[in-house]
Amino acid sequence: MSLLDVDAIDAYYGESHILRDLSLSVEEGEICALLGRNGAGKTTTLRSICGANPPQVREGSIRFKGEDITGMPADDVAMQGISLVPEERRVFANLTVEENLRIAEVSRNASNTWRRPLTSTGRSMSTEQVYDDFPRLGERKTQKAGTLSGGEQQMLAIARALKQSTDLLLLDEPYEGLAPQIVEDVEAAIERISEQGVTILLVEQNAAAAIKIAGHAYVVDQGEIVFDGTADELRGDDEIRERYLGV
Ligand SMILES: Nc1ncnc2c1ncn2[C@@H]1O[C@H](COP(=O)(O)OP(=O)(O)OP(=O)(O)O)[C@@H](O)[C@H]1O
Ligand SMILES: [Mg+2]
Repeated sequence: MSLLDVDAIDAYYGESHILRDLSLSVEEGEICALLGRNGAGKTTTLRSICGANPPQVREGSIRFKGEDITGMPADDVAMQGISLVPEERRVFANLTVEENLRIAEVSRNASNTWRRPLTSTGRSMSTEQVYDDFPRLGERKTQKAGTLSGGEQQMLAIARALKQSTDLLLLDEPYEGLAPQIVEDVEAAIERISEQGVTILLVEQNAAAAIKIAGHAYVVDQGEIVFDGTADELRGDDEIRERYLGV
């Protein structure tokens, strides 16, 4: 059994049929990459997994730790230990780094008191640990989040997600808009999180960067999986890379 099993889902926005018979599995402890061009269906896949609405999953099933979570409300999915860092990196621009982290913690505790019981086995990250893993955030505790660089905001968004107890972290294009040097910093942060036992599903258009740290890779195109193999296999597959990733 994999940590996450997406089995032959069909997902829709209204009547538009976006994901077609899409299956993927993420093994515990790995970094798994989901790659594809603009509009391929990457974000829709993540939204389907974390219970966002829309899209609507009409066929197939999603299992997490063996439990069927298809159609489960997003807050309940979060309580199972799945955290999403969305493409738009939501941070509170007018609050400091430290306040952003504190708020993430408060909202987590508040939801724990009345939501379904926490079944996540992951640990939520303490603020001290965040500063150990993301030293740049430690140096900028009192800086307003809106004045952080793109890479620093990405790290803060990831750190906020980890304030919720997390077994599976879904990252939607964490490298988007970042200079190559900064991509390397975010990459290193993702690897440190992975080493602490958090499983990661990494969605990217930047295939080269993603397969550097991923073990397994999927490529999605027009809502269908067109490649399923190891990162090494994808690196060696010029045809798939040229056809679906444009690299
Ligand atoms: N809320 C929505 N309503 C209707 N169609 C949508 C909605 N969101 C996305 N789509 C469509 O679904 C398809 C897949 O979009 P999705 O956002 O999953 O792509 P993506 O792979 O994440 O692309 P990108 O790399 O640009 O973020 C696209 O054709 C898009 O226009
Ligand atoms: Mg997207």
